Amino acid sequence: MVVSIPDDAPAGDLGLDDGRREPTMTLTGWRQFVDAPPASFDLLPGRRWAALSARDKEAYDEARLNYHSEMIIVATSTVREVARQGRLLTLLNRREISARRGLIVSGQQTTGKTTALKQLGRTHELMVRRRYPARLADRIPVVYVTTPPKGSPRKLAMEFARFLGLPPVSRGYNTTDIADAVCQVMLQARVDLVLVDELHNLNLATAAGEDMSDHLKYFTEHLPATFAYAGIDLERRLFTGIRGKQIAGRCVLVSTGAYPCDAEWKALIATLETALRLHRHEPGTLTRSARYLHRRTGGMIGSLSHLVRAAAQMAILEGEEAITRKLLDTIPVDHAAESRQHGAA
Ligand SMILES: Nc1ncnc2c1ncn2[C@@H]1O[C@H](COP(=O)(O)OP(=O)(O)O)[C@@H](O)[C@H]1O
Ligand SMILES: [Mg+2]
Repeated sequence: MVVSIPDDAPAGDLGLDDGRREPTMTLTGWRQFVDAPPASFDLLPGRRWAALSARDKEAYDEARLNYHSEMIIVATSTVREVARQGRLLTLLNRREISARRGLIVSGQQTTGKTTALKQLGRTHELMVRRRYPARLADRIPVVYVTTPPKGSPRKLAMEFARFLGLPPVSRGYNTTDIADAVCQVMLQARVDLVLVDELHNLNLATAAGEDMSDHLKYFTEHLPATFAYAGIDLERRLFTGIRGKQIAGRCVLVSTGAYPCDAEWKALIATLETALRLHRHEPGTLTRSARYLHRRTGGMIGSLSHLVRAAAQMAILEGEEAITRKLLDTIPVDHAAESRQHGAA
């Protein structure tokens, strides 16, 4: 039996609603993400659980497997710092005419950048909805786009257009036409937070990359919004050269990376452990295995989350109903973490 959780599945995209939510790169998908309550599951009391019919047990376990595919978003230091800086910038930028400042979340793969960025967007959108309930119909407080691989300015502009649901662009339009149309819609919809993920796909070493950063500048200068970017090693890839320094000079940087085996790592594991919904799990087992888990995952939150969720699903499927060290040993983590482990040995 293979339990598969897509390694790079963005947190929050695997919902209890059988995972068929639209991707968050469209307005509909984004709104579904914002509206979705955190995953939850209440365990049945032992006696009722034991009395379930085979069919009911199957449905019950299916729902639990779904629950563990998502589990919880932990308020890690990254999530909190991105929320804090993002909130501050949206407040400051409201009064700013031209020199609006942005936020860059930079770090290796699966260190929680996308998760933190989307949480910032969700929190902001929920706040706007609470504050201006009467004027919501035509309002799009947050836009979330992903920089396309080998992205050209045209492709990026089209990502914005796609999010906003603009009609498909005909060949006759040039990039500036699309960007203008996008800007107009965003102005009308009073977008005030623009999230641009996977910004490392913007390659400043090529002419197209330079074009693209000009384009980002175009958007930032034409829209009274706060821009938050996330991507891999952005300070090394983007903050060099004249344009890179221009972007960086206007941005606050939040760095992400592997966790050291410290108090926050242990707290993270403890939080994940309390989110487990297993019938025979002995509380504290995972927390006591903090060093082991650090060795297995190289301190990467993505690998930790995968390992714990996959182990929980296995514990349900095989009926053990508990995560033990023996079970963890049988769950592979992603290749990058395994090779770090061997490299470190
Ligand atoms: N704050 C968090 N709480 C719980 N799980 C998280 C958190 N941040 C990241 N993860 C887990 O790590 C995986 C990778 O995170 P992601 O945000 O996609 O990283 P990145 O964008 O840096 O590649 C997610 O799918 C999720 O399972
Ligand atoms: Mg990401």
